[in-house]
Amino acid sequence: MKKSPARNMLLKKAPSKLLERINSSIDVDVRLFQEDIEASRVHCKMLIKTKIISLKDGKKIINGLQQILRDVKKDKIKLDSKFEDIHMNVEALLHSKIGPIAGKLHTGRSRNDQVVTDFKLWIKKHSQIIDDEIRKLQKALIKIAKRNTSTVMPGYTHLQIAQPVSLAHHCLAYVEMMGRNRSRISDCIKRLNESPLGAGALAGTSFPIDRKMTARLLGFSKPTINSIDSVSDRDFAVEFIFVLSLTGIHLSRLAEEIILWSSQHFNFVKLPDELSTGSSIMPQKKNPDGAELVRANASSVISNLNNILSLLKGLPLSYSKDLQDDKRLTFNTYDNVLLGLQVMAELMNKIKFNKKTMLQAVEESYATSTDLADWLVKKLHYPFREAYQITGKIVDYANSKNKSLSNMSLKELQKFDNNISNDIFRVLSPLNSMKSKNSLGGSAPETVKKSIQYVIKKYL
Ligand code: ARG
Repeated sequence: MKKSPARNMLLKKAPSKLLERINSSIDVDVRLFQEDIEASRVHCKMLIKTKIISLKDGKKIINGLQQILRDVKKDKIKLDSKFEDIHMNVEALLHSKIGPIAGKLHTGRSRNDQVVTDFKLWIKKHSQIIDDEIRKLQKALIKIAKRNTSTVMPGYTHLQIAQPVSLAHHCLAYVEMMGRNRSRISDCIKRLNESPLGAGALAGTSFPIDRKMTARLLGFSKPTINSIDSVSDRDFAVEFIFVLSLTGIHLSRLAEEIILWSSQHFNFVKLPDELSTGSSIMPQKKNPDGAELVRANASSVISNLNNILSLLKGLPLSYSKDLQDDKRLTFNTYDNVLLGLQVMAELMNKIKFNKKTMLQAVEESYATSTDLADWLVKKLHYPFREAYQITGKIVDYANSKNKSLSNMSLKELQKFDNNISNDIFRVLSPLNSMKSKNSLGGSAPETVKKSIQYVIKKYL
């Protein structure tokens, strides 16, 4: 049976089964396979250039690593939990390909700088995938917005109907949220973009390594400057998980709206059949399971954020094995949020809106009350507070008569103020109310059309 390349001579006994179980991370960090090989290849190139190892040995190592990579792609690799993690597995595989020369690869580095280098490379690569999936969701939302700048729906505060807005304007709110997430991802990557390779176990190394070279070849902007911080820093993982969990929370808010809107009480949307499920006993049911599970997944990602923060809070410098758990939390967050983004994009691409029902909900509410008060201010020059009082009385009356504002007669309105004239009815219609909100960032169709042009340019 092969021994782990890192097994220390001081340890007279083989690791117990239990230690193997708690120590092994290969099931999780197998996802760093490509990054580990890439970082090793670059490290080896540097060892050759600085003459720390000979060109002949270095070439053997690089060839061996390339063979492993090819085997990985062909699914021909067998990993062994005895070798703890991906780094020891790659080293053992290299050993089986090229013999003891494999042992030269680990000159001037440690698993502590190796793991954090691989992990940063992984996050960099996968942050682009997330960014792209967010863009796709934005695209789906913008597509809805383009067709619905004049589609009236109730705008809510406190989940009470507040003022008419357009479906386009509502969708663009999510486009903005998602845009901020993309910008957070790029900020996080900017800060992460320093190479820890060469920090060694924690103190640096006495070999004449070239950290600038490895940083450049791995695509980092520069090497990190403090070796102790380099191996103990996981702030970048916290930030990445934070950005993803906030994205997950935004997805959950959108999912919650879809769930509400698809209930019979709202009936604003028709869910795509392929993203809904039926009930096992109630034949009439169509459940929004896709959206519900996106909402549920947000709770896992919140826990992961909490988890990584508490993992770090008591750790003295520099590396401790607790840090191994960072990857489980990061990968789980990534998987959840990626899936959530894909589900919500498909949902938004396929959902159908019941425009009539949405308009009716506005008409049956008193969503244009503020417009009525504004009319009293503009036309009859009342101070706003007074206009607000008069409008309150009108709404109260309309409510008692079970009438909408636009269904009241001029005579009825004049009971509250003699000077009210016929042109008040123009502002009581939901569409006109919406059209009048032409302040910057407001819901008027013309304003929203401009916003659409803006977000297309900015995000797509
Ligand atoms: N598997 C370890 C991790 O993910 C690699 C670093 C091991 N370093 C050590 N000193 N045991 O953190």
